[in-house]
Amino acid sequence: MKLNERVDAYQYLPNLDFDTYYDVVKDKWPWVSNLIDVDGCDTERRLVDLSSVKNEFEENEAAGRGDSYRDAMRNTGVRSVGMSQLLQKFSSSIGNPLVLDILGGDGELARVAASEYPHFRVLTSDLAGRMIESAMAQEIPAIRQSAEDLLLLDGSVDGVLIAYGTHHIDPEQRKRAYAEGLRVLVADGSLVVHDFAPDSCVATWFREVVHPSSPAGHDYVHLSADQLTDDLTKAGAKSISISEMYDPFICEGTSVKAAIDNLGFYLRGMYGLTASLSDDQILERAREIFVLSAEQAERWHVSPNISVEGKHHTYRVTLPRVALVATAFK
Ligand SMILES: C[S@@+](CC[C@H](N)C(=O)[O-])C[C@H]1O[C@@H](n2cnc3c(N)ncnc32)[C@H](O)[C@@H]1O
Repeated sequence: MKLNERVDAYQYLPNLDFDTYYDVVKDKWPWVSNLIDVDGCDTERRLVDLSSVKNEFEENEAAGRGDSYRDAMRNTGVRSVGMSQLLQKFSSSIGNPLVLDILGGDGELARVAASEYPHFRVLTSDLAGRMIESAMAQEIPAIRQSAEDLLLLDGSVDGVLIAYGTHHIDPEQRKRAYAEGLRVLVADGSLVVHDFAPDSCVATWFREVVHPSSPAGHDYVHLSADQLTDDLTKAGAKSISISEMYDPFICEGTSVKAAIDNLGFYLRGMYGLTASLSDDQILERAREIFVLSAEQAERWHVSPNISVEGKHHTYRVTLPRVALVATAFK
């Protein structure tokens, strides 16, 4: 396919048009190029739409947080407890499942999978070109596409994950994103959707800290279990089940101070928090907000508060969070 002949020069990735991207992928990861619906009647329109979209996860310039987010991700595995549980949900699929991570950023889930589920193939997908550029530079198979308008063929992947950012998809578009996820699934594949409930500590953190103290703000509606079930049902999903999942941040360091400093760096970078909040203020607000209920702490046998453990130069600080996870089928 030579899309550039049909579509006026548009950018697919920073400094890369779609045809060149496709050639690179075909050479490096032929299985990824085989998933793309290059001749689909809608592909050209989807690519043209994509060329005019830019979100806050590109660069920090112009009120974004992409650069600092990617810097924070160099500390790989901070969310591996939650990510492993999400990956586990696809492990009943045939031998070597192919999982599409629709809000994949620059590939954190793929990095966790490579160390904990090396038999999985994860295709990292994201709207932000800089995220995909960064993933590919780390040799992580990746594709730029919108959750609402996937470029993949029908029935092409074993599992679809929409996680760590579902609230970023416009509430009016979420049903469409779920329907797209179902479309690209094989017949017995599963769709897993993850977010944080409106009454969770994470939603409070976004509302009280991230929204007033980051250039992009964070004016997004989080997902309740009822809304999630309703939208998935309307999108055509079957056998929907919803559960809560323990999904902490765990940062390590060679001293208690180093571990806590790492957590502060992670929080500042990931959420793009400005200098108006000092490191101490970020950690103080995190200690106030990230507190589990006694019932939640008992259920997962964890401390309800931010806690530190360790000895002999290896210390771990744990920030507890609880996520909402839906599993559904085609
Ligand atoms: C909070 S980040 C999470 C990235 C990665 N999953 C992680 O946990 O590090 C959310 C990601 O969703 C992407 N995103 C937001 N809306 C999207 C959409 N409509 N379609 C595809 N990606 C989208 C953003 O570009 C961003 O990289």
